[in-house]
Amino acid sequence: MQDYISSFSFDKRLAPYDIEGSIAHVQMLASKKIIPSKDAGKIIKGLKSIAKDMAKGKKLPAAEDIHFAIEAELVRRIGEVGKKMHTARSRNDQVVLDLKLYTRDAAQKIVAKILEVQKAILSTAMKNQNVLMPGYTHLQHGQPLFFAHHILAYGWMLERDKARFLDMQKRLNENPLGACAFAGTAFPIDRAKTAKALKFSKSTENSVDTVSDRDFIVEFVFASALTMTHLSRFAEEIVTWSSSEFGFISLPENLTSGSSIMPQKRNPDTAELIRGKSSKTIGNLTQLLSLIKNLPLSYNRDLQEDKPPLFESYDTTLTSLEIARQTFSGLKVNAARMEEECRKGFLLATELADYLARKGMAFRAAHAIVGKIVKDLRAESGSEDLEDVALDRLKSYSPLFKDDVYPHLSPQRNASAKNSYGGTGTKALDIQIRNFKKLVQ
Ligand code: ARG
Repeated sequence: MQDYISSFSFDKRLAPYDIEGSIAHVQMLASKKIIPSKDAGKIIKGLKSIAKDMAKGKKLPAAEDIHFAIEAELVRRIGEVGKKMHTARSRNDQVVLDLKLYTRDAAQKIVAKILEVQKAILSTAMKNQNVLMPGYTHLQHGQPLFFAHHILAYGWMLERDKARFLDMQKRLNENPLGACAFAGTAFPIDRAKTAKALKFSKSTENSVDTVSDRDFIVEFVFASALTMTHLSRFAEEIVTWSSSEFGFISLPENLTSGSSIMPQKRNPDTAELIRGKSSKTIGNLTQLLSLIKNLPLSYNRDLQEDKPPLFESYDTTLTSLEIARQTFSGLKVNAARMEEECRKGFLLATELADYLARKGMAFRAAHAIVGKIVKDLRAESGSEDLEDVALDRLKSYSPLFKDDVYPHLSPQRNASAKNSYGGTGTKALDIQIRNFKKLVQ
């Protein structure tokens, strides 16, 4: 039974936060004369010595959970007076406190790491600002675009992720300590004082809600799952682009691994594992929501199961962001291969339709004409693309085609001209890079 109910194997991670919270609590108890100052002094000294030893790697004897383990160690070190620490407190508000302090730190570390990834994206984008690639929808050739524009898309996704981790701080920054078991306490505690000591902006308003609330963990785990989903989309592109069929990029050797049988292999395992591990973070979100959905108020022991998904989502997201950072900065762009693909797959069909539209034809009619040209070329199954079609032949589809059509059929010129705000065009891309730079520098 003891093994079954114990959370010590995983919640020992909360030790530094638990001690920080206990020190603030005991200081408050002394200031309100709930316990004598000299007892508080002994308790705080004892707690600090435990923190110091743990920082050096000393392990605490196992207990039901980290809260009991620290209290037992305190009593071992300073005797009976240690038992006063838990006056006007419950493990129910204590565990929420530990988790909020942990999550607040974790969110800040993720924000800092996202920023590093964004910097890597920016520098790779700037180094390859003129590299053209085929843009896709449905994984079919669509229109040409600049590689920098494509990878900056991930920079903006991560910007929204960063905003989510920052925004959750508002809700994390409410002091749960003092809710006690769930109803508060008759001791004359001062919640504002512990709030201040622990850098919370205020105290929570309802003690039942306080001990029942795990929303901040759900939010963190959701933001992690979405960040990982973004990284997973990137990872999928890395896997595809580094295949010999694409050959758009190659990965530095330290991000690939070999095969035990096929000597030639350099597999994109790191990207594949970002993709693979993202599914665990999605699972963690599902686990947490279903953990909470049928719980009556207030605290229920089920809530102890909130920790593994929180810790795992944090670890996975932080390490995957680091791998993504190394991937963005280490990938080698094969510009020639990407540009070669820009000359295939009728990538300039939209441009040809736009040409007719600019000459006065209704766009829908122009779309139909170019559709017919492409269909006919495909039926001939030659390697001809639009720029190879002779003017006479073009004129047989529409008299509006003139000699001036050919300069339009350059992928470079086509992409460069898309200067609508946020577009891939050279000028628009300059503005985008300038704006993105402001965010990350
Ligand atoms: N280890 C417990 C948890 O993580 C601490 C709270 C225990 N509270 C209780 N009423 N049994 O949830």
